[in-house]
Amino acid sequence: MKKAQDNVSVGAGGQFQVSAPKDLDPHLTTSPEIKLSPETRNRMSQDTEDRQRKTILTIRDLSIYYGESRAVNQVSLDIEERQITAIIGPSGCGKSTLLRACNRMNDFIPEVRIEGSISYHGKDLYGGNVDPVEVRRRIGMVFQKPNPFPKSIAKNVAWGPSINGYRGDLAALVEKSLRRAALWDEVKDRLNESALGLSGGQQQRLCIARALAMEPQLLLMDEPCSALDPISTSRIEDLIFELRERYTIIIVTHNMQQAARVSDMTAFLDTGVLIETGETDQVFTRPREKKTEDYVSGRFG
Ligand SMILES: Nc1ncnc2c1ncn2[C@@H]1O[C@H](COP(=O)(O)OP(=O)(O)O)[C@@H](O)[C@H]1O
Ligand SMILES: [Mg+2]
Repeated sequence: MKKAQDNVSVGAGGQFQVSAPKDLDPHLTTSPEIKLSPETRNRMSQDTEDRQRKTILTIRDLSIYYGESRAVNQVSLDIEERQITAIIGPSGCGKSTLLRACNRMNDFIPEVRIEGSISYHGKDLYGGNVDPVEVRRRIGMVFQKPNPFPKSIAKNVAWGPSINGYRGDLAALVEKSLRRAALWDEVKDRLNESALGLSGGQQQRLCIARALAMEPQLLLMDEPCSALDPISTSRIEDLIFELRERYTIIIVTHNMQQAARVSDMTAFLDTGVLIETGETDQVFTRPREKKTEDYVSGRFG
């Protein structure tokens, strides 16, 4: 990452403001107006963008055991804000285990033991004073198979916020969440009908809406399209791509085309070890590791 320029800041309107470095002799700075060439402006803009890219989740030396058997082996990975990170790798390599560790879903599985750390906005998710229920409230999850509650469409979306004492306009929140999940137009006239009457693809978008209603910053998705037909899959992929404007997403997929289509960053896992991580384009077209090359070219897995 490039070094940020200390004397450049972004004004309220998004424009750049340049001030003289504080340690400069004041006599040397004759004018507060500094004329910048387009190239310099471009470079500063890039620097500012880099600086504003924040790490939301920091995984360090993470190992996860089921009893004696180690499913995740010393993984270190940074998840950047408002990016889609795909976790790929052969079946059984530890993708779901790693994903579930990010919102403490593994806590429900007996005999799971964790070493290393995961911090969210710098706060240790496994710290002594952290409430795992609160963690799951803030870091949403969408599963492989759509799992709507046997309730109405509206109640599915309103359920989380209402049990958490949401005081705003619930109907407005339901509408906003369904719109963001690209489902509103299809269900607006049947909000009080059972969610179980929706198609599989609609049910999965409903589950995404249900997660969004909790206003999470980070959304975990474990093979969210694997139970869906190709048309529903492509709708969900489009949706995931749109969601990246507002949310950070980690998506587990064994479908490499999907990873290549939707993600910004890719992490390749094999037998619990993080083999390679980088920008998706690089991982797929110029992998650094032989194992990655073999996997993305379909030679194994
Ligand atoms: N609840 C569990 N109890 C014991 N072993 C498990 C459990 N869940 C997964 N495993 C084992 O951990 C390894 C990683 O599994 P998983 O994270 O589900 O992989 P993936 O999602 O990449 O297919 C596998 O060897 C699997 O058998
Ligand atoms: Mg899995």
